[in-house]
Amino acid sequence: MASHRANRLSRRGFLHAGAAGLAGAPMAACAPASDATGSGRRPELSRPDGVDDVAWTDVRDHFILEPGTAYMNNASLGMPPASVAEAVAAGYEALSREPLRGKNDLGRVIADRVVPGLAALLGAEADEIALTRNATEALHMGAVGVRLRPGDEVLVTSQEHPAGRRPWEFRAQRDGVKVNTVFIPSPFESEEQVVGLVEEALTPATRVLAFCHVTRGGHLYPVADLCALARERGIVSHVDGAQAVGMFPVDLHALACDTYSASLHKWLLGPMGTGVFYVRRGVRDRVLSAFAHDATVDAPAYQPPGTIGLPVRAGLAATLDFFETLGLEHVAARTRHLSDHLKRRLRETPGVTLLSGPDRATSCPGSTIFELEGLDAVEAVALIAEGARIHIDEHQRDGHNAIRISTHVYNTTVEIDRLVDAFRGLSA
Ligand SMILES: Cc1ncc(COP(=O)(O)O)c(C=O)c1O
Repeated sequence: MASHRANRLSRRGFLHAGAAGLAGAPMAACAPASDATGSGRRPELSRPDGVDDVAWTDVRDHFILEPGTAYMNNASLGMPPASVAEAVAAGYEALSREPLRGKNDLGRVIADRVVPGLAALLGAEADEIALTRNATEALHMGAVGVRLRPGDEVLVTSQEHPAGRRPWEFRAQRDGVKVNTVFIPSPFESEEQVVGLVEEALTPATRVLAFCHVTRGGHLYPVADLCALARERGIVSHVDGAQAVGMFPVDLHALACDTYSASLHKWLLGPMGTGVFYVRRGVRDRVLSAFAHDATVDAPAYQPPGTIGLPVRAGLAATLDFFETLGLEHVAARTRHLSDHLKRRLRETPGVTLLSGPDRATSCPGSTIFELEGLDAVEAVALIAEGARIHIDEHQRDGHNAIRISTHVYNTTVEIDRLVDAFRGLSA
């Protein structure tokens, strides 16, 4: 935690920066061409040729963020493009115009477009995925469903989000399962280091290995290697992909994990309240449905039953259209270009300790964390939002007092420069 003095310093520094014009610096608006022209039309979405800001200008015009504000907090909540907001609104309108027809039509969109499209995007079969409200729900479904006996052990890493840890604490309390935690440094040195630490922490009683694909702080775990290690020992691999899906291509069959849980409202920029739970076909006898006592391997019934937000789920069709047009490899290249720029600028900034490594194998393309000497991260988030109208987040975990910047395709290097200048003002 920062000292009282550091907080006072940051406030004074911020005001200084504001006086120097940083807070009020002009920025390119992230608003659709329709706002500028009044025509109500956006440029047709197409795959950009290249990674720089100019190549992605038309894509940026598909977002309706209020002009003057910059959004760099997709790791908390993704900012959907206009087409997604419109699809959700249209779905609710259809339900209000004729509920039964609306319900049937939206159900068809989900069955015929969303589920197969999402399965294809994730390299899975349609009957291996169930739609959820978020990653947390999916992670619970996996944890509650795994067959475990008292005394069986589950290994989690020290960098798990509460959503990935708490369901196992529930199993510990209810079923007498033992939960072990392996410490992974932040940042870690290499993929080999992570695999080695996990391997050392496995015991003959370990039945589940639970870990993130990308940690909350943006470190990239060697998922395929960890899943292979689990498989060799007959251990169920249970992966939290909340920070991965939508940031770069994810191929679940290639990763060969047993279960995978993800948010679709973070990096995939889907409607708020959307997630996915994947269970590999071959593991259905070990991961049961949390909802149906009569589920079978042929009818596994993972999908949570009951009434759901059909317009929200059907809105994922627009999300899929958006990402299929852009291509996830291109999205990853663009986000990498932006975070590389941010890291370069941060390295030149006095007092900054960059906690996201330069190594692409261990550092994800979208999220960057760093500490700035004498600055309290929570206070800095509020100051930057208030004074510079840039939305970011803190990462006060894993022993850090860090800032987390999660940039997506619509951000620009100009916005990033403005952010770094605002931080320089804070520490001035
Ligand atoms: C690594 C990780 N797992 C799980 C979650 C929870 O995601 P959701 O809000 O979709 O349940 C988050 C949210 O920030 C996260 O960062």
